Amino acid sequence: MLKEKIFESYKESADFILNKIKIKPDIAIILGTGLEKLLDEIEDKIEINYKDVPNFLISTVSDNGGKFIFGKLSGKYVICMTKRFHYYEGYDFNELAMPVYVLKLLGVSKLILTNAAGAVNYNFYPGDICLIIDHINFAGASPTRGNNLNEFGERFYPIDKLYDKEFRDLAKKSAIKLGFELKEGVYFFTVGPFFESPSEIRAIRTFGGDLVGMSTITETLTAAHCNMKVLAMSVATNYSSDRIENMDGSEVEDVAREVSPKLKNLIIEIVKELDD
Ligand code: HPA
Repeated sequence: MLKEKIFESYKESADFILNKIKIKPDIAIILGTGLEKLLDEIEDKIEINYKDVPNFLISTVSDNGGKFIFGKLSGKYVICMTKRFHYYEGYDFNELAMPVYVLKLLGVSKLILTNAAGAVNYNFYPGDICLIIDHINFAGASPTRGNNLNEFGERFYPIDKLYDKEFRDLAKKSAIKLGFELKEGVYFFTVGPFFESPSEIRAIRTFGGDLVGMSTITETLTAAHCNMKVLAMSVATNYSSDRIENMDGSEVEDVAREVSPKLKNLIIEIVKELDD
């Protein structure tokens, strides 16, 4: 597609949403598998199904295709995405950039992301909430490949400060206030949908990966391109495949659901303390 057409299609999606919510949110939250408890806390909700938004993707990991939930959290306007889109669903990296660009056009400047991930670091355990301090993308793909959309950012852009230090410090302070500490680690992206082989995990550990997962980096890389502040957190839901006898992934959703209330309280606290 021509780049003017691409921008126009994002604009059309954003205008449709803005027409429903009327107010521009500064904060967006993209929630990972099983981590939806936060949605109970949103006040004065307006819900918009992805399938009703022109040009938007439909999540294949959700019965209803996923939805936006707009409303107030800790007294601030937020827009949440209840389901995200993954490479393993068949979307390519460019398509996975779209939701974040649409959020940008809604006025979002701060993006909070959560995901479920495998615990590669020997000091990480199922149930831990971990701050992502950096990532490794060896997938050989980029969400911002192709014609640069100058409306959003420069052709070449740095990602050395992608996971904003101030935002991370706020998250750490908020966790301590709630009585726990966050682990901190590097997220290694894998394409999935298969979990990793034990040899791959050993390689990932050697490369410096602490957590392994199949999402998030397409969103954070796009957010970096359009100059959003990013906070990303993983819930370690399972030991990586070289740390257990039988790796079947069945615990991922159960552990995420168990940790979800704790993560909910953390995000409420973080949003409360965010500068306007
Ligand atoms: N590997 C990849 N993705 C994941 C995992 C894992 O072990 N757990 C949750 N998402």
